[in-house]
Amino acid sequence: MIKACIFDLDGVIVDTAHYHYLAWKRLAQELNIDLTEEINERLKGVSRMHSLEIILGLGGISLSQHEKENLANKKNSWFVDYLERMAPEEIFPGVKQLIKDLRQSGIKVGLASSSKNAKTVIQLLHIQNEFDTVVDGTMITHSKPHPEIFLLAAERLGVLPQECLVFEDAEAGVEAAIAAGMKCVGVGSPEQLGKANKVITTTGDFRIAGLRELERN
Ligand code: BG6
Ligand code: MG
Repeated sequence: MIKACIFDLDGVIVDTAHYHYLAWKRLAQELNIDLTEEINERLKGVSRMHSLEIILGLGGISLSQHEKENLANKKNSWFVDYLERMAPEEIFPGVKQLIKDLRQSGIKVGLASSSKNAKTVIQLLHIQNEFDTVVDGTMITHSKPHPEIFLLAAERLGVLPQECLVFEDAEAGVEAAIAAGMKCVGVGSPEQLGKANKVITTTGDFRIAGLRELERN
């Protein structure tokens, strides 16, 4: 029985995944590296430093820890600039209603994002009080595809991993949910997220009936 739903943030609740991409692309351009949307899929769900390492790997560039930290900070400052211009209306349609419906049905709702900016984003969207727990990039050692973030969210929600359903737009996130022993709804394309138990185009499309269906499979 599913007792809790755990949502990723970037690309699931709001299109901040696009802001991450724009900021990484700008940094990659400065390094003369072509960051395509296809390669960007590999950056989704993973930590800031790991994302930078993937980009540097593309260009065969090796840097000191200090230089890498400078570049990661630069990217983050551009990302934060985008956030400052983000309006609460940018939350994906139907997400607030879905969270409300889940909670009214007695389902616990958690947020599990690898981002260290997650708390800022949910405050900007005015949804910081809609979750029973929030786990972000400041609270974990291993980022997705490691299951740590989802296991911590389940523990804080007081439920077992097998009682959780995760919503994820990143391949690394789907893998993390599966590794945690949870069911997973992929938000995006079936080609990218085929390992998920079900794939939907946008989070707001999900209905409670779908949850009962996933319990049976
Ligand atoms: C994830 C995003 O949610 O957070 C990644 O999918 C991002 O693209 C990661 O790199 C870390 O985010 P931040 O805000 O801590 O740099
Ligand atoms: Mg995401």
